[in-house]
Amino acid sequence: MKIVAVLYPGGDAAKEQPGLLGCVENELGLRQWLESQGHTYIVTHDKDGQDSELDRNLPDTDILISTPFHPAYLTPERFQKAKKLKLAVTSGVGSDHIHLDSAREHGVTVVECTGSNVVSVAETAVMSILVLIKNYIPAHQQIVEGGWKVSEIAKRAYDLEDKVVGTVGAGRIGFRILQRLKPFQCKKLLYFDYQQLAPELEKEVGVERVESFEDFLSQCDIITINCPLYDTTKGLFDEKALSKMKKGAYIVNTARGAIVDREALVKAVNSGHIAGYAGDVWDVQPAPQDHPWRTMPNNGMTPHYSGTTLDAQRRYAQGTKASEILEAFFQGNPFKPQDVIVHGGKVASASYGEKKLA
Ligand code: NAI
Repeated sequence: MKIVAVLYPGGDAAKEQPGLLGCVENELGLRQWLESQGHTYIVTHDKDGQDSELDRNLPDTDILISTPFHPAYLTPERFQKAKKLKLAVTSGVGSDHIHLDSAREHGVTVVECTGSNVVSVAETAVMSILVLIKNYIPAHQQIVEGGWKVSEIAKRAYDLEDKVVGTVGAGRIGFRILQRLKPFQCKKLLYFDYQQLAPELEKEVGVERVESFEDFLSQCDIITINCPLYDTTKGLFDEKALSKMKKGAYIVNTARGAIVDREALVKAVNSGHIAGYAGDVWDVQPAPQDHPWRTMPNNGMTPHYSGTTLDAQRRYAQGTKASEILEAFFQGNPFKPQDVIVHGGKVASASYGEKKLA
């Protein structure tokens, strides 16, 4: 079979750190294993445009592996070209870069390495909440630049204790964020999700479910976004939703950039209605140089890396290989049900919206 992997370029970092498995140079550690079984393995970072190496290889690709960090956007047009494609593997979590309706129509199975980096993201989300409310980034910048003006920093610095923090989506990442927030003694922990947590899990972290999105927005001092991107959640945080949030509230989005409307956010942050925004996900990746989220005030943006720590890479490389996804496929065994997003012409995951459940 022909397997194509689209990964980010590793450069010098790949030579310095062999544990950087998710880059082109280190190939998810799969080459020897795949070639020893007679498969052809093509690895590239060249993913954009009709002349890209990805496009040139698509017509006879059987399996496409890609990561959300350097997404190979599998559009309806690309599905048309990929006549032999049977399996699209997300080495990581979040398969929104794949047009899922086209996958259904073309009978392509979409699987991901569920859970492989959920702790990594939960830790980053909690860090980002603290970085924003403590006003840490300008404080550090002041020191690097030789300054010392406590008042300039303290005028926007708060504690997490006694704040209302809410998560949109209380799945694997959302719940782990709640677990990590519990010791901070927030005033309230809230969640908005059409799937209800088991009562014992709600009790474990002391979280309350809010059924109305508007109610949820109006109660939170800090919102963390942890749902997948699909038609319902695209632009969920638009001008209207942002205006329903408390003045001076913060948003941390480590889920997907396009869940937040690009221009509406810039307006809300510029006006001070939203006090700060942090995250590592962008509505297109890599983010263009002139993307306004790079330079808007009070942002704690980074490149998409929270789910690609060295620990996470070890887990998702393993999950793409051996006993798990590829091996199951080669041997004709079923995938782990929790890894399957689309199979047999149906959306199989319960996380991509109620109405999509087959
Ligand atoms: P999960 O499937 O365990 O949980 C997602 C939750 O979101 C589910 O409980 C689902 O019911 C809920 N949800 C779906 N639509 C919703 C809506 N319209 N409103 C409210 N809740 C909704 O997924 P997991 O592992 O927690 O990951 C969540 C997302 O985080 C992924 O889909 C991915 O986009 C993103 N992610 C980001 C990473 C990063 O490196 N920044 C790494 C891993 C995941």
